[in-house]
Amino acid sequence: MWRVARDSGELDLNSSYAYLVLAEHFAETCRVAVVPDGASPTGERVVGFVSGYRLPDDVAHLFVWQVAVDEEARGNGIAGRLLDALVDDAPDLTTVKTTVAEDNVASRTLFVRWAARRGATIGTTPLFTADHFPDAHVDEPMLVIDGVHAR
Ligand SMILES: CC(C)(COP(=O)(O)OP(=O)(O)OC[C@H]1O[C@@H](n2cnc3c(N)ncnc32)[C@H](O)[C@@H]1OP(=O)(O)O)[C@@H](O)C(=O)NCCC(=O)NCCS
Repeated sequence: MWRVARDSGELDLNSSYAYLVLAEHFAETCRVAVVPDGASPTGERVVGFVSGYRLPDDVAHLFVWQVAVDEEARGNGIAGRLLDALVDDAPDLTTVKTTVAEDNVASRTLFVRWAARRGATIGTTPLFTADHFPDAHVDEPMLVIDGVHAR
């Protein structure tokens, strides 16, 4: 996850420790996408991930923290399938929330198309604005995808 985030060209890279904590304590709401790789000792290689957690004050709401797919694997529906996997394994979820920078067309399109495919509604509401960040950062409005159902 750390490696994919690092190479994404887009994501804020968290510490490697943070990804280990996510994988250890939030595995129910994180997924990786793997492809066969004969050169790897495990026989497979991670090419994408989604990380998230249930909102502590409303556990039917899943907050998607980061999603990324290696550049050479993009455009094959992997990110959409990662989101599918999270929701299909959690029948009690009603809502998916995430933040997307205004200029991140790929990410915005991913969530808009995914919501449509899942028969859910999508809306935007302000969340983090540039002045919330101690470092240089663009606004991160929140996307709210309501009416998700496991299949
Ligand atoms: C955003 C990202 C995860 C999408 O991964 P992906 O596996 O290529 O996405 P998918 O193939 O599932 O595509 C989902 C939809 O978005 C569309 N899409 C994907 N990339 C796009 C782009 N660059 N421009 C426009 N639309 C795009 C696809 O056409 C697809 O729409 P469809 O269902 O109508 O065919 C990937 O581009 C990425 O890792 N970007 C860098 C990291 C990032 O910005 N993450 C999001 C912020 S947390």
